[in-house]
Order: sequence, then C-alpha cells, then structure tokens
Amino acid sequence: MAKIEVNNIYKIFGTNPEDVLQMVKDGATKEEVLEETGHTVGLDNVSISIEEGETFVCMGLSGSGKSTLIRHINRLIDPTSGDVKVDGISVMELTDNELIEFRKHKMSMVFQRFGLFPHKTVIQNVAYGLEIQGKELQERNKIAMTQIEAVGLNGFEDQYPSQLSGGMQQRVGLARALATNPGILLMDEAFSALDPLIRSDMQKQLLELQSELKKTIVFITHDLDESLKIGDHIGILNAGKLVQVGRPEEIILNPADEYVKAFVKDVNRAKVLRARTVMISPEKFNGKNVSISSSLKVHEDVYVEEFLPQVLQDRSVIIVVDKQGNTKGYITEKELAKSLSKSGQEDGHQKYT
Ligand SMILES: Nc1ncnc2c1ncn2[C@@H]1O[C@H](COP(=O)(O)OP(=O)(O)O)[C@@H](O)[C@H]1O
Ligand SMILES: [Mg+2]
Repeated sequence: MAKIEVNNIYKIFGTNPEDVLQMVKDGATKEEVLEETGHTVGLDNVSISIEEGETFVCMGLSGSGKSTLIRHINRLIDPTSGDVKVDGISVMELTDNELIEFRKHKMSMVFQRFGLFPHKTVIQNVAYGLEIQGKELQERNKIAMTQIEAVGLNGFEDQYPSQLSGGMQQRVGLARALATNPGILLMDEAFSALDPLIRSDMQKQLLELQSELKKTIVFITHDLDESLKIGDHIGILNAGKLVQVGRPEEIILNPADEYVKAFVKDVNRAKVLRARTVMISPEKFNGKNVSISSSLKVHEDVYVEEFLPQVLQDRSVIIVVDKQGNTKGYITEKELAKSLSKSGQEDGHQKYT
C-alpha cells in the first residue's frame, strides 16, 4: 500500500467550481476555462502514488499547481473532485477532530518563508508542535534539543529568529517539523528563498537526515537541479496537469513533452546519470577489441561524473559491479557519449559538461 495516494484530483477555484467541473473533465484547457467561465483550474485530474520512505518532488513553473497539490495532502484544501488517501485512509472522510489529530501527529509542514514565531526562542519554536500535542515542558525541551543538535544549531536555542540568518531560520523550521516525529514531511519551496550556497547546504543536510530517518517527504520546488538532487521520484506539473512522473534519470533521458524538455535541456547529465543507467549488459558487451585489464571498477549507484575523467583520459572501460563485487555491466567511451549527448546520438565531447 502506498503511503500517500492522490486519486484523480480536480481543483477549480471560483464561485461555482462544480458547474465548471464537467467542462474540465471534457478536456477544456486552463486558458479556455478562465476565458469562458472566469474560474481558475488549479489541478486537472492529478493522480500520484508515493511510497513510504521516499522523497517525492513535485516540480513545475510558478502557478502550475504545486502548492495546491501539497495542501490537499493535509486537507488545507478540499478537492472539487477526487480523493486523497494517507495510510489507506481517505482524508476526506475524517471528522473535524480526527483531522486535527491527523495534522498533529502524522505530518509536518515546512514553509518557504520559514513561518517561525518571532516572539518565541529557537527552542520554543522547535518545541511548538510538542506543546500542541500536550507534552510536558521538560520532555518537549529534551526532544527539541535533540532536533536542534540534529540540524547543527546547538548554542542557539535561546536566540530569537530575527537574530539568525535565513539558512539558520530554515534549520529551525526543519527541526520544528521533525520534532513531532511525523511520518510525513511536506515541504513547500522550503529552500527557494535561500542563497545558492546555503541552499545547497540545506539540500545536503536534508539528504543526510533522510538517509537515517526515512520519512515520506513531499518536496516542492520550481528548480530542476534541486529536484534531481533530492527526489527519488519527480512529478512535473504544467497548468494543473501532471505531465510526467519518473526517477531523475528517466526524466532526463525521456522527457515526456516540450515543457519537460525545456526544463532538462541544460542539465549536466553526468551529475544525474548513474553507472547502472549507462552501462551495457555483459551479453551485449563486445570486449574483444578493448583491453579491460586496467579497468576501473565502480559501484552501480555511482554518478557518471565520478569516472568520466578516467574514461575520457585513458579511454578505459569501466566495469560496473554490485555490492558483492559481481559484474553487472560495462561502460565504454562510445556508450557513454551516447547517453550523455542530448539527442541520444553519438556526438562530440563538448556535450559532456
Ligand atoms: N485561493 C485561490 N483562489 C484562486 N485561484 C487560486 C487560489 N490558489 C491558487 N490559485 C490558482 O491556482 C493555480 C495554481 O496555483 P499554485 O498551486 O499556488 O501554484 P504553484 O504553487 O505551482 O506556484 C494558479 O493559477 C493560481 O493562480
Ligand atoms: Mg507555490
């Protein structure tokens, strides 16, 4: 069973969304609907399935429906039509009290503008969700301190948000979200307001935390590089429609339409593709013409950029192995050139970077 299931969600904003629904179901575009009815299509028949422990990134241009989608998951927004299930339970069927409990315990949200209380200290901010849960002061401070340490902010617990940099404030936001130990973390453009270097630090920190915590994370961004770094799966929204869902390498190698192509066209493929994606199977490998005696062995999960220099310099064949050291495939310079070029055809080295 999926941790989060979004089933055929339509969300139409305006005075009479139900009256407009059929028109959207019949295939009218967002522009047509706006022109003819004055209603805005937020989401148009979106279905996704998110597995426990994965990071699902939802990407798209501004206005494509990302925030609308994530707010359906904790039911800050009710769909015009469709259903959302968390742990197999429809959030639409929760009573008011159940919904309050569900938001207190099952998930936390991290916002772009941090959303910290300015008059509360760092530790009070981090402990806030625990306070809402009714935990005693001593216990919540103990848990809050553990989280503050986990995001590298010990020593700052008695400061106020205004005394901290943007990056530090967002660490507080993250610590607060984690303090209640929710199964699900909803992050809406959580790093988008940060400077590039700080942002990349936060991405690294999130990946490190996630490798231990294995939360189910729904992460929203309009930035392709960020999605590729963070996402186990990426869903791409355009004008309320989900146009593609896939692993980072699938999105890069097979963009579904022109919109996705425009996103991926300048991406450095060597940073995204892994050995296992670009290798050829032992059956297909014609090793007669090449010497593999001095070959480099790499694990199948390693990114191409790590062995690319060696292939270019020495024209070596790379042997791809699994954890046990068994050979899974081979990578030759020729095959690599094919995978790294945008068209999928062999061409020049200038496309490597
Ligand atoms: N409360 C609302 N009322 C009317 N239109 C809305 C509302 N919220 C979002 N929209 C519209 O729905 C579409 C999707 O918005 P949003 O989910 O905020 O996009 P994103 O987060 O991808 O930038 C946009 O066209 C936006 O104008
Ligand atoms: Mg948004």
